[in-house]
Formats: sequence, C-alpha cells, structure tokens
Amino acid sequence: MNNPALHVLLAGRFDPAEREAWWRALTAAAPECIWQRDDAPFDREVIDAAVVANPAAGLLASLPNLRFVQSLWAGVDKLLADATLPVHLPIARMVDPAMNAAMAETALWAVLGLHRRFFDYAAQQRQVQWQQLPQRRADDVSVLVLGAGQMGGEVAARLAAQGYRVSTWRRRSAVSLLEVVTGQGIVVNLLPLTDGTRGALSAAVFAAMPRGAAIVNLARGAHVVDADLLAALDSGQLSRAVLDVFHQEPLRADHAFWRHPKITVLPHVAALTDEPSAAQVVAANLQALARGEPPQHLVDRSAGY
Ligand code: GLV
Repeated sequence: MNNPALHVLLAGRFDPAEREAWWRALTAAAPECIWQRDDAPFDREVIDAAVVANPAAGLLASLPNLRFVQSLWAGVDKLLADATLPVHLPIARMVDPAMNAAMAETALWAVLGLHRRFFDYAAQQRQVQWQQLPQRRADDVSVLVLGAGQMGGEVAARLAAQGYRVSTWRRRSAVSLLEVVTGQGIVVNLLPLTDGTRGALSAAVFAAMPRGAAIVNLARGAHVVDADLLAALDSGQLSRAVLDVFHQEPLRADHAFWRHPKITVLPHVAALTDEPSAAQVVAANLQALARGEPPQHLVDRSAGY
C-alpha cells in the first residue's frame, strides 16, 4: 500500500547559495516528498514535516498539521529556545557520519597543534624567531573529551588511535567536572548546550586543571565564561585556547579573543553540515515518518538535546 506523499517545508536562515544547495540535495534525496520552501509563498495547512536551520521563532508553531521537525544542525539549543515550539512535536538532531568525521579532524588538528607546539611555532614565525621547544610523546599527553555522544565518541576514538591518553566525561557521569579535569593537559569540549552545561567552562574548572593546560571549544560559545577564560590565559594558568564557537556569532570585530596571543579563532567551521550526506539522513527520517515508524535521533526535550 502506498502512503500519501509528505509535504515538507525547508525553512530557516541560509545564505542564498546555501539554500539552493540544500534544496537541490534534499529534493534529490527525497523526491517522493512534496517540497516547499519558506522563502516563497507556501501553504501552512498542508505541511507535515519541516527541515530547518535556525527557523524564525514562531514559524513552526504556525504550521497546524506539523508532525515532525528535522534539524540540519547537530546542536538544537537555538531551536529549543523558541518558546512557541509545541511541547510534543518530535524533533530530530542532525547526526551525520560525515559531520562526525569533520569534527574528529578538527579536534585532531587542535590537539596535535597544542601537543607539538605548532601554534607556538606559528607565533614564533610572525616574530622571526628560530627556537626549538621541547617535544613530548603523544602517550604523555592526557586529553579529556567533554561529551560522549555522537561527536564526543568519534573524537575520543580518533585521538586514542593517535596515541593520546584519552578519557571522556558526560554531565550525567558520577564524578564532577572539577574532579575529572585534574591532571588533564587538554580539554576538548563537545557537550550539548543545555541549562546544565551553560557556563561549565569557568574559573573553577580552569583552576582545577594543571598549570599550562589548554582548552579546545568546538561545541557552543555559551559553555565558556569569556572573562574567566581571558583571566586564566593572562595569568598563565591556561597556555592556549582554540575556539570555534562564541557567545555572539560572528565574533564582534572588537572582541578581545580576535587579537589575543594565546587564542586561536575559527569561524564556527569545526564541522559544517555536509549537504549531500546530511540529505540522505533527512530522507531516511522522512521515509520512516511516511511509513509510520519513529524517526532516528529524536531530541529528548527534558534533557534539552
Ligand atoms: C553546528 O554547530 C551544529 O550544531 O550543527
């Protein structure tokens, strides 16, 4: 028996080329759906499912027959911050192997750069300074990965395969973050942003780390207390921070992070969603919905991710 075709809305804030790339990838991956888009007139009444990236607040609540939302982003903190979002609406996070692989590459680059002092050598080059620094073995470097989900798990495995001493921590672990950061040379943050993790990387945590440790934030800017981070770097408690995410994005031109000698800034590119690969993930979830089966990677609204 054939199920009726789903009406699916692509909605959100994209730049025009990005929107076209998503449109092409999604309509090709799920041609059995009837696709509409929110940058053109569409019929609110018929929409069954929405595929979204930062949709306008209130938009999803205005679709009376909406049964499912698929995020194109792995992190759903912004989506869930829309107070009008119906409580029982099923929402799926983007979980895409290509995105996990990209995140593992970024984490590996940052950890290698910190471990082998490549960030310091880049600074030395700018000062025309020839100086060899001590070299440590990977198995002398302990790395703590915060978050043990899709991305944290992949990052931890990739770093362990490279020879680092890797452990992971999740918020529901029995031990506190303050206890686990003791003795960790590098902390890589991949936690979801929830009420329980906001501001988790603060002065107390930096002080509990060994002097000269480093942090890598690949999750959300709001995990970090910016003033505490600057103070820890300026006092020498932390040696460096590699930051991909910020409280406000784009990072304002006058923000202290841009020019800080111990901070490396990336423009939120640690793991961009890969359109063709993510479109396959979306298509599989829409097909499940059409068959009356539960979609994959549904958000636990009470946990906040
Ligand atoms: C990126 O930050 C994402 O959540 O996909």
